[in-house]
Amino acid sequence: MASFSPLLAMALAIFIFSSHSNAQLSSTFYSTTCPNVSSIVRTVIQQALQNDARIGGSLIRLHFHDCFVDGCDGSLLLDNNGTTIVSEKDALPNTNSTRGFDVVDNIKTAVENACPGVVSCADILALASESSVSLAGGPSWNVLLGRRDGRTANQGGANTSLPSPFENLTNLTQKFTNVGLNVNDLVALSGAHTFGRAQCRTFSPRLFNFSNTGNPDPTLNTTYLATLQQICPQGGSGFTVTNLDPTTPDTFDNNYFSNLQTNRGLLQSDQELFSTSGAPTIAIVNNFSANQTAFFESFVQSMINMGNISPLTGSNGEIRSNCRRPN
Ligand code: HEM
Ligand SMILES: *[C@@H]1O[C@H](CO)[C@@H](O)[C@H](O)[C@H]1NC(C)=O
Ligand SMILES: *[C@@H]1O[C@H](CO)[C@@H](O)[C@H](O)[C@H]1NC(C)=O
Ligand SMILES: *[C@@H]1O[C@H](CO)[C@@H](O)[C@H](O)[C@H]1NC(C)=O
Ligand SMILES: *[C@@H]1O[C@H](CO)[C@@H](O)[C@H](O)[C@H]1NC(C)=O
Ligand SMILES: *[C@@H]1O[C@H](CO)[C@@H](O)[C@H](O)[C@H]1NC(C)=O
Ligand SMILES: *[C@@H]1O[C@H](CO)[C@@H](O)[C@H](O)[C@H]1NC(C)=O
Ligand SMILES: *[C@@H]1O[C@H](CO)[C@@H](O)[C@H](O)[C@H]1NC(C)=O
Ligand SMILES: *[C@@H]1O[C@H](CO)[C@@H](O)[C@H](O)[C@H]1NC(C)=O
Ligand SMILES: *[C@@H]1O[C@H](CO)[C@@H](O)[C@H](O)[C@H]1NC(C)=O
Repeated sequence: MASFSPLLAMALAIFIFSSHSNAQLSSTFYSTTCPNVSSIVRTVIQQALQNDARIGGSLIRLHFHDCFVDGCDGSLLLDNNGTTIVSEKDALPNTNSTRGFDVVDNIKTAVENACPGVVSCADILALASESSVSLAGGPSWNVLLGRRDGRTANQGGANTSLPSPFENLTNLTQKFTNVGLNVNDLVALSGAHTFGRAQCRTFSPRLFNFSNTGNPDPTLNTTYLATLQQICPQGGSGFTVTNLDPTTPDTFDNNYFSNLQTNRGLLQSDQELFSTSGAPTIAIVNNFSANQTAFFESFVQSMINMGNISPLTGSNGEIRSNCRRPN
């Protein structure tokens, strides 16, 4: 008769413990503790869209800038506090650029009123991303949930980990690879530039003196170039904004990819995906341009991949009561 092996019991305990500490996110994480959280988030965003057609783009960008720096832990949302919290909001890719923090606060307030102390700020960014995309005409999906909030910010990490609009495809690919994302994710997620705005300073080097050649970026469509030179004249304000997608600025569709095919990518980092000769990204751009369903399917999968970057789960981190500071 087999006796119960202590060794087997220990192995089982280790298995259960380790699978718990690697806990996966789940679309039903709040189904008993905050069953209505998705519609609460969606309602606040619908209200914000009334006065600000751009807010959906701003919110999904917050999730991206959160996830690429120490994982999706809400670290981007922490305000500078004069001592240990050196805010990511003041990092180069974020300063005078990331926006929508007031709307995140409004979402948090609405969610806390319904289910106090339950939903993390990191999860609010993931839910806000899905609502923003679907409300703009893009795909809907079941958001994976169960992230907890970090207690620290990493401004240096934000400076070095987030991609720059002036980088070439080699650099962009490397920054995605660094967080476990591949070129398919790079192309699909760049498709978020189908809505939202960008400031002149993020693409003006392309307009007049590209790479110090004295000429504009030769990959820019000449008609589009002339338009952009009027919006962003030499010596003008670098803070002026224009549409990332000049065709359907506030709609989530696959026009971003046809823009790249006609040399109407706004940022250098956009156009690199199609104009880098021999690059594996070209075929992906062509696919998404020809087939919006293929883009939407890939986009959803890549959003899930991005949302899975190093979440805090189980008893790690905390559920912040105010997204701007640790408890
Ligand atoms: C591939 C590398 C990427 C680079 C270099 C990049 C760079 C930029 C830059 C420079 C801006 C304009 C910011 C400003 O002028 O204030 C911008 C805006 C935006 N980005 Fe990206 N981005 C990248 C990937 C992504 C990803 C992965 C997403 C989301 C999944 C995203 C979503 C957006 C959105 C929606 C906006 C408009 C934001 C608004 O209107 O407030 N971007 N991006
Ligand atoms: C869920 O939230 C929405 C938006 O806030 C609200 O209209 C609806 O009544 C809520 N449903 C329940 C069951 O609480
Ligand atoms: C941000 O904008 C403010 C107000 O326009 C300006 O004073 C400041 O120099 C800007 N900072 C950066 C880093 O561009
Ligand atoms: C990040 O970049 C900003 C803007 O260039 C700079 O002011 C700040 O000192 C940098 N922070 C760190 C920690 O490197
Ligand atoms: C691209 O990456 C290389 C190597 O890390 C770096 O030297 C270069 O400055 C980066 N280019 C840009 C435009 O950031
Ligand atoms: C991108 O820039 C880096 C250095 O900044 C260079 O080594 C690399 O060859 C460039 N890649 C492409 C595709 O031009
Ligand atoms: C382009 O920029 C370089 C470096 O700043 C400068 O030396 C050159 O005079 C500029 N050319 C033109 C035509 O503005
Ligand atoms: C478009 O992409 C979807 C999803 O990958 C695929 O099922 C469909 O067959 C494609 N349509 C065409 C015309 O290639
Ligand atoms: C287009 O993208 C879809 C979705 O990712 C993929 O299933 C399909 O194989 C791709 N088609 C081509 C021709 O690359
Ligand atoms: C800043 O935040 C840290 C971490 O929560 C906390 O220990 C510290 O006391 C705070 N400093 C101030 C001035 O609030």
